[in-house]
Amino acid sequence: MSVHLVEHPLVHDALATLRDVSTPPPLFRRMAVRISLMLAAEATRDLPTRTDTVATPLGPAGARRVSGEVVVVPVLRAGLGMLDAVLELIPTARVGHIGLQRDELTAVASQYYSKLPADLSRSFVLMIDPMLATGGSAVAALDLLRDAGAREVRMICIVAAPEGIALVERHHPGIRIYTPVIDSGLNGHKFIVPGLGDFGDRLYGTQ
Ligand code: PRP
Ligand code: URA
Repeated sequence: MSVHLVEHPLVHDALATLRDVSTPPPLFRRMAVRISLMLAAEATRDLPTRTDTVATPLGPAGARRVSGEVVVVPVLRAGLGMLDAVLELIPTARVGHIGLQRDELTAVASQYYSKLPADLSRSFVLMIDPMLATGGSAVAALDLLRDAGAREVRMICIVAAPEGIALVERHHPGIRIYTPVIDSGLNGHKFIVPGLGDFGDRLYGTQ
């Protein structure tokens, strides 16, 4: 597995606003979209393309078009905050949903929903979940994707902890993770420190 640290200044500017405890949900949602656009652009840097020709007002121009099938898979519920950004970049992507919820006491994730497109074997799959903490949710989601036939999977997150990266690495060594940052670790409640708190709660104002 390889972790790709995304260093773009605009990514880190958006991350600063997401981390800020005083950022209200409307601005938090906007920043989630903004940072996700840039992370998704990075994670799709080597998407396959085919050559094309388009007519400009002044004549023909050689062009490249994205080719192949892309599937984006948000991990509910926080991953939904990243979905519109990916669909803005790749409107033709099919969307699968995986619902996972961490137990508040044990932080163990359990699945409550899964609906994936048929035949993922030839798809470029982008799994989106903003927080990679213990890694339990990511591993559960990646297990489902593997069982559904996915072969080329990338994960985009907004904050990662070393513990989560290590767990994904152990269970899914072929996965590439795109993140702006690896924070120092987890606290006693398995929240990322310094992190940004509960992403889903801040996204939807449920804290
Ligand atoms: C959050 C987050 C990840 C998970 C990460 O979801 O969106 O899915 O925690 O933690 P882990 O790496 O320790 O598994 P949560 O379970 O809080 O659900 P929510 O998205 O519905 O708020
Ligand atoms: N889920 C979150 O939303 N935040 C964390 O810090 C850990 C898991």
